[in-house]
Amino acid sequence: MKLAIVEGDGVGKEVIPAAIEVLDALCLDVEKVPVELGYGKWEKTGSAITDEDIVTLKECDCVFFGAVTTPPDPNYKSVLLTIRKELDMYANIRPIRPLPGVHGILGRSNFNFVIVRENTEGLYSGIEEIGENASYTKRVITKEGSRRIAEYACKLAKSRQNELIIVHKSNVIKSDRLFLDVSRQAAIDAGVVHRDELVDSFAYNLITSPWKYDVIVTTNLFGDILSDMSGALVGGLGLLPSANIGTKHAFFEPVHGSAPDIAGEGIANPIAAILSLKMLLEWHGNLAEAAIVEEAVDAALNMGVCTPDLGGKYTTSEVGDIIAQYIKTRIE
Ligand code: NAD
Ligand code: IPM
Ligand code: MN
Repeated sequence: MKLAIVEGDGVGKEVIPAAIEVLDALCLDVEKVPVELGYGKWEKTGSAITDEDIVTLKECDCVFFGAVTTPPDPNYKSVLLTIRKELDMYANIRPIRPLPGVHGILGRSNFNFVIVRENTEGLYSGIEEIGENASYTKRVITKEGSRRIAEYACKLAKSRQNELIIVHKSNVIKSDRLFLDVSRQAAIDAGVVHRDELVDSFAYNLITSPWKYDVIVTTNLFGDILSDMSGALVGGLGLLPSANIGTKHAFFEPVHGSAPDIAGEGIANPIAAILSLKMLLEWHGNLAEAAIVEEAVDAALNMGVCTPDLGGKYTTSEVGDIIAQYIKTRIE
């Protein structure tokens, strides 16, 4: 596998090396292609991502990404949005499930759902008019964009509980009517049991009774907000992995950002990055290796090996080392 590796900024520079140690422990045939992107590069060169970087990312089988910091420049074009659009990765997949030994805000509870976030349009269209007295962002919902994300979610639902919940705000935002109609039709066509909820009351329902949900499909910004919120159910933002999937490309990253408030301290939780690596391995067809990574993460957490956000005393690299060591012993 030819793998582009973007550490990025802040804690990206800590959690990705920890996850790469885990990858190395699996002894797979991986050609690593380091790519520098983000705020650090912008400070050095005036550009956070170049056309050549995009070509490099496209040439690799997939991308493993840490996080980038958004520079304080009003004309800055988001690195992440550029990559998602250029590589047309329309599906942002965010699985949310409890981890052993970790308690979220509901304590020990049993839930297992996936947020399928539309990743290329909605309020992230980039079509904006910024003025002194008024600013506008165009919310784009297309039939094709809605159809492909809904079909992706239906396919995922069929491999799970065959239940889809469509989350929208069509009572107020009329563009969501199209998203809702197209998603409903996709569910009917696929034979998936479906219903819909308005995003505001849905957010309440999700955080109070998450076990009621299986696959959730929603538009870009709602999916962004609902996924960070769901981190509270699991036990922290350092625990949520994600995959950005398109027809040709795939990109794996923690849900969290560059966490400037803790960057450089060696205390960032690498579990989100390591579970993103697990998603990468599954996508690439290395199912046995993905299962070993998950088993190793579970084993570490069961032994109380965790960073301070989970009440532990271990550093980022120590957690990575212990998980890698477990894998080495396991596959010997
Ligand atoms: P953030 O996710 O970086 O941090 C939010 C909170 O969660 C912070 O208190 C942080 O310390 C904590 N946290 C995050 N990851 C953690 C980890 N692995 N272990 C322990 N604690 C962790 O969100 P933010 O502070 O709103 O954003 C910071 C910067 O990151 C901004 O510039 C934002 O634009 C960027 N960002 C980038 C990405 C990305 O590149 N994928 C995603 C989100 C935000
Ligand atoms: C995420 C992040 C990004 C988003 C930002 C950094 C562009 O918050 O991946 O969730 O909003 O999609
Ligand atoms: Mn986000």
